[in-house]
Amino acid sequence: MCGIFGCITTNGDAAPTIHASLKRLEYRGYDSVGIATINNGEVFIKKDQGKIDEVHKLLNLDDLQGNIGIGHTRWATHGAPLKINAHPHTDCTGQIIAVHNGIIENYAELKTELENRGHTFQSRTDTEVIPHLIEEALKQNPTLTLTQAVVETIKKLCGSYALAVISSKEPDKIVCARNESPLVIGVAQDATYCASDLTAFLPMTNQAVMINDGELVTLTPGAYEIIRIQDGAPVTRKPKTIDWTPEMAVKQGYPHFMIKEIHEQPDTLRNTLRAQEHYLELLSTFLDRATEVFLVACGTSYHACLAASYMFSKLAFLPTYPVYASEFIEQHGKSVNIDSTILAVSQSGETADTLGAVTCSQQRAATVLGLTNTVGSTLTRVSRVYLGQQSGPEIGVAATKTFTSQLSVLAQLALKLSTKRGKVSQDEMDYLAEKLDKLPETVEAIILSQEDKIKQLAKKYRDAKIFFFLGRGVNTATAYEGRLKLMEIAYVPSIAFPAGESKHGPISLIEHGFPVVFICPRDGQTHKTLIGNIQEMKARGASIISIIEEDDEEIKALSDDYVEVPKGIPEVLSPIPFVIPLQLFAYYMAVEKGINPDMPRNLAKSVTVK
Ligand code: AGP
Repeated sequence: MCGIFGCITTNGDAAPTIHASLKRLEYRGYDSVGIATINNGEVFIKKDQGKIDEVHKLLNLDDLQGNIGIGHTRWATHGAPLKINAHPHTDCTGQIIAVHNGIIENYAELKTELENRGHTFQSRTDTEVIPHLIEEALKQNPTLTLTQAVVETIKKLCGSYALAVISSKEPDKIVCARNESPLVIGVAQDATYCASDLTAFLPMTNQAVMINDGELVTLTPGAYEIIRIQDGAPVTRKPKTIDWTPEMAVKQGYPHFMIKEIHEQPDTLRNTLRAQEHYLELLSTFLDRATEVFLVACGTSYHACLAASYMFSKLAFLPTYPVYASEFIEQHGKSVNIDSTILAVSQSGETADTLGAVTCSQQRAATVLGLTNTVGSTLTRVSRVYLGQQSGPEIGVAATKTFTSQLSVLAQLALKLSTKRGKVSQDEMDYLAEKLDKLPETVEAIILSQEDKIKQLAKKYRDAKIFFFLGRGVNTATAYEGRLKLMEIAYVPSIAFPAGESKHGPISLIEHGFPVVFICPRDGQTHKTLIGNIQEMKARGASIISIIEEDDEEIKALSDDYVEVPKGIPEVLSPIPFVIPLQLFAYYMAVEKGINPDMPRNLAKSVTVK
């Protein structure tokens, strides 16, 4: 997730406004920043890696001439966070400049085609194909306007984008467009703005025009024209008056970052499914040749590893060993060796325990692979190869979109490995790949249909003193994750373990009204045994709360409360949708108890101490 901003004004230079607006978008990404302006036909660009304040101190981002400009604050997905990869990017002539938020899925083939036509590229980003495509369109047909050239370009793009383009050949307009990445227009008397979200321009105007997928806007000072990209039809849409405070705007109207990030998961899941092919191929080759594989992480990332161990086993017949990073050195420090492969999973890429396990492994010549959300983090630098979870900055201390994004990438890795090993039929592979692609819609449906019910559940159980979270198979990990969420943001003591373990001790805790949460997918071999576990708990007076597939009448009949997810979810992928109700439940329990879910006591977002 990155932040884009554009400004065309009749009142002085654009750069100071762009700089201040990028600061308000910094929560969307902050590993590099850049601004471009045009003045008297000349292009001025300042950009570098680093946070906005650091780069401003170095380059003075207010000091670029011209009443028109665009800017970008980056969260790297393709291309390390280096100056060369910072936006804005230009075409060969340096006259066409673009910024972009999203992922261009087909950038590799577009780039090859453009290079074959003589274009030279500076960066390793997907974004840089945009100005070169516009340049090529204008070369093929010089009579095109900038708007028309951008339309031609967009028709070649696959993937998600919110982009803004300026050109020294037409310095009186900004052309912007969106597909799946957010874009909004701000209209003031003497200026017009485009931005990733209205936080950026709210201090200058509360007149906002929301732009939809497949629409393109041409901005001139104080005016804008919207067209539908596919047929060029004009779109009339008046500005809306926004009554949010800037604080509300940065959370896009949500009360907390955590609930905003829970709601973002359909989009972040779509992004995890994009442009991973090359890296999945590389990592799966390493795993395929590995003799022993450790999955090493902490907290939520460890729970993703635990779920992944079932995926690798069931789909690729690859045994993997999930290990708490904080225990790795004690447990495996002496045995890890040159034949070991470590897949370290870390949203921040900076967790000290995880990096400690990685260092120990490297000292013993093991192969280290990485999965992280933070390109440019230590983990990306020490990994032989790494995969990006591509879920954008996660501001809430509790990991939510991290878990589902990591699982989506790990599931793709398991499927890629399974294809290599031919352990699962092609029909089964195609079925699972299709179901994985549909998970964003499945998650969207759960949030839309179940959120209110979960709010009520939180009211009903707000005073419960302790919870059990139980699952079987891959959903043991889901149970652990649900437990962690409730503990860390609602401060409710919770216990999670494989449901089959209940009778080996924990069931002695059960008394009347003791709430027990069961995760019960319909698919797979665990449904029947889970019914037995539910009956055991129910017989001892527990209050049964079940996460079930819709119309699972058998478990509904045994439950005091239930939350339904759509039918037809393969068990091996079920942690991704089944965790959503648990995230929402933990969030609403915290709200019910008057706790700020974004800043839970005693916790830090990234634990960089051992
Ligand atoms: C999860 O909600 C917590 N914030 C915490 O357990 C976190 O998952 C853990 O510290 C690992 O962080 P990482 O993914 O950045 O390594």
